[in-house]
Amino acid sequence: MDAIDKIRERTLAAIVAAADPGQLDAVRVAAIGKKGDVTGLMKTLGSLEPDARRAFGQAVNQLKDDVQSALDARRAVLDSAALDARLMAERIDVTKPARFQGQGRIHPISRTIDELTAIFTEMGFTVAEGPDIETDFYNFKALNFPDDHPARQEHDTFYLPPDAEGSSKVLRTHTSPVQIRTMEKVTPPIRIIVPGRTFRSDHDATHSPMFHQVEGLVIDKKTHMGHLKGCLIDFCRAFFDVDDLPVRFRPSYFPFTEPSAEVDIGCSRDGGGLKIGGGDDWLEILGSGMVHPRVLEYCGVDPNEYQGFAFGMGIERITMLKYGIPDLRPFYDSDLRWLRHYGFLPLQVPTIAEGLNG
Ligand code: DAH
Repeated sequence: MDAIDKIRERTLAAIVAAADPGQLDAVRVAAIGKKGDVTGLMKTLGSLEPDARRAFGQAVNQLKDDVQSALDARRAVLDSAALDARLMAERIDVTKPARFQGQGRIHPISRTIDELTAIFTEMGFTVAEGPDIETDFYNFKALNFPDDHPARQEHDTFYLPPDAEGSSKVLRTHTSPVQIRTMEKVTPPIRIIVPGRTFRSDHDATHSPMFHQVEGLVIDKKTHMGHLKGCLIDFCRAFFDVDDLPVRFRPSYFPFTEPSAEVDIGCSRDGGGLKIGGGDDWLEILGSGMVHPRVLEYCGVDPNEYQGFAFGMGIERITMLKYGIPDLRPFYDSDLRWLRHYGFLPLQVPTIAEGLNG
């Protein structure tokens, strides 16, 4: 038997015997890697006479092809065995009766909503809700977005197919429409928060087409910017559990508030890690402002009698910051392993009285 046949026999046997991808790769390297047996045969070609070289070259190429096909075939078998093993290991018998196994966890988004609610209800807010599918009026127009305003495009709105009159509903791009719905039906004083789902056509490590916001609205006769600042500073310090957390108000623009401010909290990024509080860096966490008189008018609230403030923030973002969760996408994967790691025990309900943070 010549060298080619010996290598073929030995390599094909080793491929069939490889029990996992690691072993298979070792066989591949030993055969067709840089210093492999087959590669070694190739290197001897140069020293042969032209005729012999052609025949030998063809035989070595054939060997190489045979080895490659055997590797591919074995890889497919191992991959499919690995998938079968994983499916068996993760098998859930859905016919079994539900029994508490101490494994259920509260999702971090639900947890943050519970925490926000505990903080704001303690301050006298109640929780309001509104529909996920909105009209242009509630999502934009009554919030003082002019028809051709660029902010409409910035919201990356999902439009539903137009109705018989040709008007399209939208998946709400923020929770602010619930401000309008509330002011239309409730006579001030108003003090609400609105946690809920929101939708924008945007998808990467920090954006999901479905996400959550919480809106806040306070309307009364003398509510002013000082109240806005006090309320949001108290909230940030309670939520992040840092008593002296620096909070900064930066002038900004939203169509529905005037003046408007974005709120940053102090943080440090020393040593690569992010630490909330202290430091000389800032993180933007929410938008706010005094409700625009035109918005009050749209809702039938007299701006000469009433005024107030509003705010809105992304729930995923503050959850990721508080709990050091680096990627947004697993929030919606329903992967129990992730949930066991980042989730919360069901009976640890956050309350102000018992301490929000356990
Ligand atoms: N609706 C804004 C957004 O989605 C957030 C926001 C900013 C809400 C300022 C407010 C506010 O109520 O006053 O980007």
